[in-house]
Amino acid sequence: MSNEKSTAFAPLTSPLKGTAKLPGDKSISHRAVLFAAMAEGMSHLAGVLDSEDVRSSINVVTQLGAKVDLLPSDDGSLEGTVTGWGSNGPIQPTEPLDCGNSGTTARLLMGMLAPWGIEATITGDDSLKRRPMRRNTAPLMKMGVQFKPAEADHLPITENGCKQLRAITYDAPMASAQLKTAVLLAGVYAKGKTTVNEPAPSRNHTELMLPEFGVTTTAGTRVATVTGPALMHASDIIVPGDPSSAAFLCAAAILKPGSALTIENVSLNPARIGFVRTLERMGANIAEHRTGAEGKEYVGTITVSSTGSLRGCEVPSQHFASIIDEVPILALVAAHAKGVTVFRGVSELRVKESDRLQAIIDGLDKLGVDAWEEGGNLFVEGDPGLEIPEGVVFDTHGDHRLAMTWAIAGLTGNTPVEVKGFDCINVSYPNFLTDIERLCS
Ligand code: S3P
Repeated sequence: MSNEKSTAFAPLTSPLKGTAKLPGDKSISHRAVLFAAMAEGMSHLAGVLDSEDVRSSINVVTQLGAKVDLLPSDDGSLEGTVTGWGSNGPIQPTEPLDCGNSGTTARLLMGMLAPWGIEATITGDDSLKRRPMRRNTAPLMKMGVQFKPAEADHLPITENGCKQLRAITYDAPMASAQLKTAVLLAGVYAKGKTTVNEPAPSRNHTELMLPEFGVTTTAGTRVATVTGPALMHASDIIVPGDPSSAAFLCAAAILKPGSALTIENVSLNPARIGFVRTLERMGANIAEHRTGAEGKEYVGTITVSSTGSLRGCEVPSQHFASIIDEVPILALVAAHAKGVTVFRGVSELRVKESDRLQAIIDGLDKLGVDAWEEGGNLFVEGDPGLEIPEGVVFDTHGDHRLAMTWAIAGLTGNTPVEVKGFDCINVSYPNFLTDIERLCS
């Protein structure tokens, strides 16, 4: 166990009630900043998530010559302009590009740098340096990009772009929006059609946003294509609320008796709200209502209230990508359900910000819940009468999604728990606790 500071989470004294508005979606915020940096002209962005991960994207594009004027607005989101490098391309950076904890920044950046004649070293924090990168470098090498060391699977990696990129058709070995996006972003500058086929659908924010920046893009259920070369032009983007952050409030409302919440202005992209489908199948009182769209992204509200009798369910592997970031919090809800919940095909969780698969199993074990992995599937044997033992101390392993999951275990439980290294929530949801406190007052 690390000697990081620990934060105590005592059971909430009142239910969660009222209306919540969430910070901007992290995936869409990254793309808005990164695509605006690539484009010619000045883009106006609003609702951008102000978190450490998005700041990593802002920092690297600034190092590469984009002019970012995003300032905190009244609701805490970032708003303002980004003037991109457009046809001039990025400038030669003088220092390594530090992506912090952000896999999205590092992997998308590899595609963004692909068409330019500069040399850049991409690096990150200890967690990011442990995450696999060959999945990205392999298709980009096929397009003509060079990486040093060529076979490296881990950051730091130095990239040399290629001004005559080859368009490719790539069969991705896993459903990963970060991999898909990197190849498509390189494809923007390759002559002809660059296509990525996926084994299962991953989130499609890139395919929805690239046309707004002037890139001819077509997309099917497991395939996306861009036609290059295209000169990206500036665009105006409003980022809706983050469903992945909403999932934590939903779980808290489901588990805390007497709660009833409406979460407004949240992205209802079907590739992102698999957790709503899963919670429905567990018998939870939850529903989404589309109210409109921001760009091509569906937006609306989620209503959710406490649910006394949850049941286990099975989540097939083809739905895994739609809950990829929500498995920790769904596993906690499953721990309160009657019967076994099976999350199929979840090995990818081993290479997230931490080994989330092992961390979920270890954390649930501390709660006295049986959870195990077999054949790449996660099994959670729930207990509707779950009583948290006294003195539980969780380790976040520096992983924001685990930090919020274990905080909710304490907040909705019967006795306080401690969470070590809780500050890592700043990666995606800095106001998590303030939002919960406001909804309980
Ligand atoms: C993301 C894609 C997913 C997700 C991550 C954000 C994105 O990762 O887990 O938090 O914004 O493209 P993978 O593409 O590695 O599956």
